[in-house]
Amino acid sequence: MNTTIDLIKNHTSIRKFNEQPVTKEEEQTIIECAMRGPSAGNMMQYTIIPIRNKETLAKLAESCDHQPFIATAGLALLFVADNYKWKRFFELREVTDHGEPYKGPKIPDFMLAIQDAMIAAQNSVLAAESLGLGTCYIGDIMEQAEFHRELFKLPSHTMPVTLIVMGHFDFKPQLRSRFDQQYVVSEEVYPNVDEPFIDGMFDKEEQKQENFAQKFYSRKIEADFFKEMIRSIKVYLGQWL
Ligand SMILES: Cc1cc2nc3c(=O)[nH]c(=O)nc-3n(C[C@H](O)[C@H](O)[C@H](O)COP(=O)(O)O)c2cc1C
Repeated sequence: MNTTIDLIKNHTSIRKFNEQPVTKEEEQTIIECAMRGPSAGNMMQYTIIPIRNKETLAKLAESCDHQPFIATAGLALLFVADNYKWKRFFELREVTDHGEPYKGPKIPDFMLAIQDAMIAAQNSVLAAESLGLGTCYIGDIMEQAEFHRELFKLPSHTMPVTLIVMGHFDFKPQLRSRFDQQYVVSEEVYPNVDEPFIDGMFDKEEQKQENFAQKFYSRKIEADFFKEMIRSIKVYLGQWL
């Protein structure tokens, strides 16, 4: 691959990996690039958990909404939004909050940790892809809160935000389409999202598939995995609310 722009423009998620291992050197480069990403206040409120253990990967293939290809990854990186380390730091240094004892992380800490973790994750994707590896995000890591907490020994005020599975591959699928730019970018202010806007935005999909909206809604939002995601995220969020 030649330039960073070419690399980004040619991104596709890879869901079939071959047997070629991800080397420790590749892993190290990917992690360094993840950590080079910007973070709010340079606090780096995330933890990266590299996973190579086949048993753990097999467990994740089940717990992340039954996606068998996860088990075939050469390496997976778990990105955990993490307010725990700074919480421990503030507690141990007996920091006060307006003269009162420190009470722990608040909602903005949570949001910033999520953003830090996702930025680091995307840097890891770009680094892996520039090394010729294929990657796929696994959002279903936000499910099964109790199981994943136990599996990775996660303390309070942490939440697994995303899992990036990666590995070498033989076949690269076609690029998936994106919405046209006019439906995503709006100069200076938010666009007027009237009915013709929505008609145009979804025209290609609706041409391809009858009743696309209902079918999409049923497949995603009504699905069991989505109910589980709602339940599990509430479990995590409870720690900050
Ligand atoms: C936050 C997030 C969560 C995702 N979760 C999954 C997942 O659990 N399983 C999966 O196969 N792909 C997952 N993906 C990959 C998307 O399906 C993929 O990026 C999208 O369909 C566009 O395809 P492309 O990446 O090949 O361009 C996820 C992507 C993101 C950004």
